[in-house]
Amino acid sequence: MAPTVLVSNAPVAMRIDIVTLFPEMFTSFLDGSLLGSARKAGLIDIRVTNFRDFAAGAHRQVDDRPYGGGPGMLLMPEPVVSCVEAVQREAAPGRVVMLTPGGRRLDQPLVEDLACQDRLVLVCGRYEGFDARVCEALAAEEISIGDYVLSGGEVAAMVVVEAVTRLVPGVLGDEESARQDSFSGVERLVEGPQYTRPREFRGLEVPEILLSGDHGRIARWRHEQAVAATGRRDLGSPRSFPVQSPAPVHRSGS
Ligand code: ADE
Repeated sequence: MAPTVLVSNAPVAMRIDIVTLFPEMFTSFLDGSLLGSARKAGLIDIRVTNFRDFAAGAHRQVDDRPYGGGPGMLLMPEPVVSCVEAVQREAAPGRVVMLTPGGRRLDQPLVEDLACQDRLVLVCGRYEGFDARVCEALAAEEISIGDYVLSGGEVAAMVVVEAVTRLVPGVLGDEESARQDSFSGVERLVEGPQYTRPREFRGLEVPEILLSGDHGRIARWRHEQAVAATGRRDLGSPRSFPVQSPAPVHRSGS
């Protein structure tokens, strides 16, 4: 059976392949505003392939019980590895990234590094994860989007796609806005507060300096605000990050 491919091919700046058991999860995401336009404009080529299409047998089984016992099911190596190998043969091979909770934590420097590649292959796990030989066989790297566990790698792959593609030249339209993003630039500061109309909202005023027209002073003020916002964040200030304590736990039983 032919692999499931959701999008078209065009000569582009970057190609991203997504390998998943749930290709339909990506349909509206890839057709959405920025990504949809970038794909139509031929700036990025994103293809989604279902690795169940590479599974053997009438049932196209992709998972099995772990050796040594334990809860849940693991993804068998053959369907995932065969799928990635087939996808890699379609063009010059890309950097293979498996989305796993135990991988290297995604941050802006890693996003920038990924955005320099001509091609990425993102592999999404499900169930209790992959057989360990998948990573070895594919010479893949593992990336996590944070220290929490999702039900699969699909949402994590979307995070990677969105963060990376906005750095591909032409995707944002305004390259300056990517340069001014939080975590970008030499200092990697988070952005300070920004304001738009109206000048007064429910008694809250726009800082006077932003209305002054003095671009030098405004730039200095913005930099100070960014430094302060970064400091508050690094200290985990409860003011900037209200958290519920203790964390809510929902129990169905006793
Ligand atoms: N799959 C499950 N949890 C994940 C996480 N936190 N990051 C990336 N992939 C995952």
